[in-house]
Parts: sequence; structure tokens; C-alpha cells
Amino acid sequence: MGDPTDLKSVKSSAIVIPDDFRPYPPGSFCLPSFYAKDVESVLIPEGLLRDRIKALAREIHAKYASTDEEPAPLVLVCVLKSSFKFFCALQLELELLNTEQSQLIAPPVSGAPYHNNGGQGNGTAIPSAGARLLPLLCEFIRVKSYVNTNSATENEVKIQGLADPVEAFAQKDVLIVEDIIDSGRTMQALLRNLQQYNMKSVRVVSMLWKRLIQGNSVSSFRPHFHGFEIPDRFVIGFGMDYNERYRDLNHLCIINAAGIARYATNQPS
Ligand code: HPA
Ligand code: MG
Repeated sequence: MGDPTDLKSVKSSAIVIPDDFRPYPPGSFCLPSFYAKDVESVLIPEGLLRDRIKALAREIHAKYASTDEEPAPLVLVCVLKSSFKFFCALQLELELLNTEQSQLIAPPVSGAPYHNNGGQGNGTAIPSAGARLLPLLCEFIRVKSYVNTNSATENEVKIQGLADPVEAFAQKDVLIVEDIIDSGRTMQALLRNLQQYNMKSVRVVSMLWKRLIQGNSVSSFRPHFHGFEIPDRFVIGFGMDYNERYRDLNHLCIINAAGIARYATNQPS
């Protein structure tokens, strides 16, 4: 295959939220009361996030699944902590696509016990006709950035949390699952780091792609799959934090000045 990190030809079905989009008033939604006063607005309600994740799962499944008798697995890599909710939702939708395309295991023969049969089961789960299936492997990593002292321009990252990265990645299709890409520098450094593992392919799915306006240029890295393109605002909720808070806020929201002040880490004492 060609260079899987070459993104020029990537077509996206992402929902684009324009800069002049007026987010929703928080009073129109159910949110935890202890967070309501810190929310300026709801940018993407949870239901819309989940619907779009379902569609993303279909795109991903269509790209990787196969009709082979022993389909090759896809390694889903959850980049902790912020992508945990997106990862769970996406993994579940992919799992459902596989389940829906597999026939019921045959019910036990009348009267025969369905257990204690020497581990043989009572039937064979077979794929439905023409089923395209995609077994999933799940890995969980943390990425620590540091500035490479040998290079003035490129940051490097360290991957933490894998007992054996070669076993996890070598000769496999790998999909990095991220919550948000803004500058893309960390992701580019992560992809550079992963190159040593001789993967079959590596791609990135991000729930959000932030349109960072730096001077006249927008963010340089575009994920292979993404759910939403969003304006350059600080967002919280659906796993995403501000100083570790708000990960358990259900909707994707824009934080207000009160929230920023409440959980600022370097408050004067
Ligand atoms: N919110 C939370 N974490 C982030 C954001 C954001 O808007 N952008 C990059 N990391
Ligand atoms: Mg992230």
C-alpha cells in the first residue's frame, strides 16, 4: 500500500461547525448541576456525538473489514486519558457491526444441556452471507511530549503503557483513536515514533479536528477520519478536561470564565 500517513487524498464526511455557528444555551439541556454554572454553551450535544460516532464506525469498518475466513484484526489504540469516552463509543459501534453480521449460535438440541459438553459449544457461530468482519484488538497508551534537544524544530514523544510494543503493532493495521487534534504536532511525533514498529498500516481517527488559526495558516495535520471540525474554542466534556475536571460532563461544551477561574491550577493563595 502507499504511504498511509499521506493525507492529501483523504476525503472526509465530517460535520463542519463554522466559526459563526451559535452554540446552544446550556439551559436547554440536561447537564450535571455542579457543572452548569461553568458552561458557556453546548457545542455538540451528546446525542449528536454518538450518532456521528456510529457513522464513523461504519466508515472505519468499511475500510478495514474483510470477507476472509480469518479476517485480520484492527488494533485500536486509545490515547489516554481524554479519548477514553470516544474510544468506548467507537469500539462499541464497531463491535455491534461485527455482531450484526454474525448468525446466532445454533440453539441446543432439545433436552441437551448447553453446558458441560466438553467445551465444544452447541453449534457454530457463522458469518451471515457476504459478511465483512473486523476483529478488534485494544491497546491503551499515554503519550508524553518532550522537546528533543538535538532538534530545534521537531518535538518527540515517549509512548507509555505498553508491555511489548512490537507484539502490539508489528505487521498489524493500527488505528490511533484521539479525542482532538489541534496543532497536530503531538500526533505527528507519535506517528514518527510508531514507524519503528513496522506496522502494516497506521491511521488516525479523531472525534474533533480543531480549526486552529495561526496567522493565516490552519492546523497542519488532518486526521484520516474525524467526526467534527470545530472552531478554535476550548471545549470540555465527553472525556475532555480542563485541568482534569469535566471529563464526566455528558455534552461537548464551551467552558466559561467562571469555570476557567474555578479550576485554574496556579491560583494565587
Ligand atoms: N479542550 C480540552 N483539551 C484540549 C483542547 C480543548 O479544546 N484542545 C487540545 N486539547
Ligand atoms: Mg487527546
